[in-house]
Amino acid sequence: FEVEYHDSISSTNDRARELAAEGREDVVVLADEQTGGRGRLDREWTAPSGGIWLSIILRPTVPPASAPAFTLAAAVATTRAAREAGVDAAIKWPNDVLVTHGDTDRKLTGILTEMEGEADRVSWVVVGIGINANVEAADLVAGATSLREETGDVNRRVFTQRVLEEFHELRSDPDAVVPAWRELADTLGRRVRVDTSGGEVVGEAVDIEFPGTLVIETDDGPVRVSAGDCEHLR
Ligand code: BTN
Repeated sequence: FEVEYHDSISSTNDRARELAAEGREDVVVLADEQTGGRGRLDREWTAPSGGIWLSIILRPTVPPASAPAFTLAAAVATTRAAREAGVDAAIKWPNDVLVTHGDTDRKLTGILTEMEGEADRVSWVVVGIGINANVEAADLVAGATSLREETGDVNRRVFTQRVLEEFHELRSDPDAVVPAWRELADTLGRRVRVDTSGGEVVGEAVDIEFPGTLVIETDDGPVRVSAGDCEHLR
């Protein structure tokens, strides 16, 4: 990947979308700080100086329906890099990377995938990865944690490199994404509540299917959800 670095930028995803619209691919937009970071579901994403805020531009030859697999791959790549750095991270469906302390899950990483395309083929995908790296939890939203809090500051260049290497590897082996995700996920086997556009689904998360569909065993039988906000129940 070619890297475009910014000390400060509004949102690496916005910049990546611009470059994608110009036809660029395999570019990573990386920033020390974002002033207008965006999260899922139109939320804001707090991104102070010291984090790893990056967006990867891809132009894959896949239908839009399989794009969620890139989100899973990003979660797998980040979780592997965090574990290598000594942090006991796990994935919460679909794409949060969490660290669990006792009864509380704290969020280390969020991923926002955006794309444009036709029914049969995407024209570009932007995978935005926000890693709370060398930042204080006090400077993040409630419930967040950082590599600094969990293990001490990391070498951001090395950490970023590991994430991109792992991501690149999964990209060349799409069939490996779901099994890798299963292994690193904390959601399977748990009781969950998922808020979807079609309402709330409560039950036991029993499996994940390509490209990222969660299978929930409810009182009325299995329900498959492809998007939503997931809460682990106890
Ligand atoms: C979430 O809501 O959990 C997703 C957060 C995604 C944040 C990252 S930081 C890099 C990229 N640029 C953005 O504006 N957002 C994503």
